[in-house]
Amino acid sequence: MNHFITIAETSTVEIRHTLDVSHALKKQRKSDGHNSPILAGQTLAMIFEKPSLRTRVSFAVAMQQLGGLGLLLRPDEVGLGTREPVQDVARVLSGMCNGIMARVFEHQKLVDLAKWATVPVINGLSDYSHPCQALADVLTLEEHFGKLNGRTMAFIGDGNNVARSLAVMCGRVGMRFVLSCPPGYALPEDDLDRVMAQVPEMDFQLCQDPSDAVREADVLYTDVWTSMGQEAEDAKRVKDFAGYCIDGPLLTKAPRHAVVLHCLPAHRGMEIADEVVESPRSLIFAQAENRLHAQKGLLAVLMGGQ
Ligand code: CP
Ligand code: NVA
Repeated sequence: MNHFITIAETSTVEIRHTLDVSHALKKQRKSDGHNSPILAGQTLAMIFEKPSLRTRVSFAVAMQQLGGLGLLLRPDEVGLGTREPVQDVARVLSGMCNGIMARVFEHQKLVDLAKWATVPVINGLSDYSHPCQALADVLTLEEHFGKLNGRTMAFIGDGNNVARSLAVMCGRVGMRFVLSCPPGYALPEDDLDRVMAQVPEMDFQLCQDPSDAVREADVLYTDVWTSMGQEAEDAKRVKDFAGYCIDGPLLTKAPRHAVVLHCLPAHRGMEIADEVVESPRSLIFAQAENRLHAQKGLLAVLMGGQ
């Protein structure tokens, strides 16, 4: 695997291997207190056009724990596509660093970075997708359930970047993905058709009523109603998404073994109730920690020859 831009462009075999390496590196860190320095002397350039807590910290710490360096580049310093063309940034960073991780608004910038870079490019979130999140989520679910084949994830909320990556990731690990959202907020049909042609094993279903969507779910998932960059639509979205909150009453409609995930940051009282975030059925903070372990696996595969 050369880059990690979308789940659809990453094969089932590559995803399985990355998850296996992630599980192994997590086990090694927990049992030995440290990892082998498989990225000694290597540097990951980290470009953020949007805010971040988990992605920024997990990549920096992952690089450090594998013996390398995560170099943070402020968006105003780099000016990706403004101060300098993307293809120039890609080649300059390729000459000095061993990998590039970028969080961008326009997904096309990642595509262009990957086209021009001679080192691996990692999508740290774009308006289109968030594959690193989906990798950590599946790692978390495998720790909890073991094999995921035949399980169902109900995503209650916006058909956004996170939903898209999860829908495809579910297909890669044999899970059904049910999206429950108000009219007008589903994943665009033409995009879905294109992705499903690439990943025919995807089992995708739309279900407008959240109560129906969770009835057979093993996992309930949600994300913010207003993603970064959509702030101007916030008031309309809050109105449109009324009734699409994972709260106590909705959780009682799911099977008793069902667990809850949220990629964070969460807006308690909006897409998820405080009592659900804090309930024993929430795996949310294990999920957040797994961003570190999943990305270690990813870095080890992309940059460490694992
Ligand atoms: N879930 C996630 O990507 O968090 P950050 O935006 O804080 O990186
Ligand atoms: N959908 C959210 C995810 C944040 C991690 C956003 O893009 O802002």
